[in-house]
Amino acid sequence: MISAESVDKLKSDALRLIESAGDENFLVDLRVKLLGKKGELTQLMKQLGQVDAEQRKEFGGLLNKAKQEVEQSLSSKQKILSDQARRAKLEKEWIDVTLPKKQPLVSDAPGSLHPIFQVQQELEDIFRGLGFTVVDGPEVEKEYYNFEALNIPATHPARDMQDTIWTTAGDLLRTHTSSIQVRALENVKNTPPLRIVAPGKVFRYERVDASHGHTFYQMEGMMIDREVTVGHLIYFMRTLLRQIFGFDPKIRLRPGYFPFVEPGFELDIWFNEKWMELLPCGLIHPKVLEYGGIDPDKWQGFAFGLGLSRLVMSRYKINDIRHLQSSDLRFLRQFS
Ligand code: PHE
Repeated sequence: MISAESVDKLKSDALRLIESAGDENFLVDLRVKLLGKKGELTQLMKQLGQVDAEQRKEFGGLLNKAKQEVEQSLSSKQKILSDQARRAKLEKEWIDVTLPKKQPLVSDAPGSLHPIFQVQQELEDIFRGLGFTVVDGPEVEKEYYNFEALNIPATHPARDMQDTIWTTAGDLLRTHTSSIQVRALENVKNTPPLRIVAPGKVFRYERVDASHGHTFYQMEGMMIDREVTVGHLIYFMRTLLRQIFGFDPKIRLRPGYFPFVEPGFELDIWFNEKWMELLPCGLIHPKVLEYGGIDPDKWQGFAFGLGLSRLVMSRYKINDIRHLQSSDLRFLRQFS
């Protein structure tokens, strides 16, 4: 039955529970438990009807006061808890806008083409203007295209001069862009004339130093037509060099031996007061034409293997071939 003590006990229990509440949900439940329709305080209120008028007045006053205190306590606790929750959320989602932004790994400056590629593109333009097509070929090459079809059989000593890395499947990293020659001939089969250039990476098993790299760039050129002579070869080489250097450099042809040309030459240019070996070339050997399925009695051709890396080095006065493969930005930025 309702008594002053029972009201007092309910109140102090309720206040203690409210005080101990750790989150807002618990508080919501507590409000129902105390003040809801079937809440403990509500139940006591209902009992007021069963006591006499005197007591009803006394307990009624006590109950009202208790209810007020509980409500007050509930709402102030609710405010404290919601403040806490908000602060915790802010803490968790806090972003320090004063932090410096992440530095990019390299730089914000726009990239630029590698000097080799710049010169390569320039050469491609020159050759397109002369009616050549730019073609491509695999860097991991068949022994056949790199050696055999170029009239360099397995026993030929010229193979020793171009040692390279072989795959377990018996293919190799091409030692020169001349591997394109027979591939290109096979493509046109019986329908010359043909003019192609093929720029790209080549590989040699070399002791690396300032002028020898294991990886460097060449540009192969080949022209097939009727009655091609050394005169045509010289004409095209001169035109090429004039465009590259902007003037007519002095040139000389020396005999040079390559099994896939006959006659073969080393074309040197007079550069920086000395002869520089730049362009091995020659008339395509009849056997190579045959390997490519072309009748050497009807068609002839010339081929050259321009040393792209070497040309870039001489143009920009680069003293060490290793810079070209270094990816060193201090080097590369000079060409942007
Ligand atoms: N492929 C030869 C080399 O790398 C160069 C060459 C190409 C010579 C074409 C003659 C004709 O040494």
